[in-house]
Amino acid sequence: MSLLEIRVLGDPVLRQETTPVPQVTPELQRLIDDMFETMHAAKGVGLAAPQVGRTERVAVVEVDGAQHVLINPEIVEREGTLKWEEGCLSIPEIYGDVTRSARVVVRATGRDGQPVEIEGTELLGVCMQHEIDHLHGKLFIDHLSFLKRQKALAQWEKEKVNYPGLVRVVSPDDPDDDPEHDDERM
Ligand code: NI
Repeated sequence: MSLLEIRVLGDPVLRQETTPVPQVTPELQRLIDDMFETMHAAKGVGLAAPQVGRTERVAVVEVDGAQHVLINPEIVEREGTLKWEEGCLSIPEIYGDVTRSARVVVRATGRDGQPVEIEGTELLGVCMQHEIDHLHGKLFIDHLSFLKRQKALAQWEKEKVNYPGLVRVVSPDDPDDDPEHDDERM
C-alpha cells in the first residue's frame, strides 16, 4: 500500500464529475486500499477518489470501526433532515454546519464486486452523503449560506498557502492536532 497525495480546494479535479466503474479490478482494489491508508493518515472518516486526483466513481468511509467501500454509489432512500458540522480533507481547517438528510440508504458495489446496501444515520449517513457529493464535483461549502461560504473561502485563502501546488502530503506519523474535529473530516 502507499499513501496518496490529497488534492485541496482549487484543484479542478475536485469539481469534475467522476466516471462510473465498469468492473472491479485488482488495480481498483489497490486504489481503494491506498485510499483507506491515506484517510487514516489524514485522520478522516471518509475519502473520495477526486480527493486523491482520480476520476473513478469510488469512495471509502470508516465510521465506528466499520469500513465501507462505495463503488458507483447511489442514494435510493432519504428521510428527514439533520444539521452536522462538517469538514473536508481537501479543505483543511475549515468547518461548517451542513443540513443533510437524517437517514439515507445507499446502494453501491463493494470491494469484492458484489452489490451492497448501506443504511446510515448520523455520522455514517452524513459521511456517505458528503462522499457521494465529491463523486459529482460537489463540496460541503456549496451547501453553506452565501455569507458563511464567503467567510469559509476567506479563511481558506489564508490556509491554502500551506499547500503549495494544491497538494497536501500526509504521513502516518502526523499527530492528531485537532481531536475535537475527529468526526468531521471527510
Ligand atoms: Ni470531503
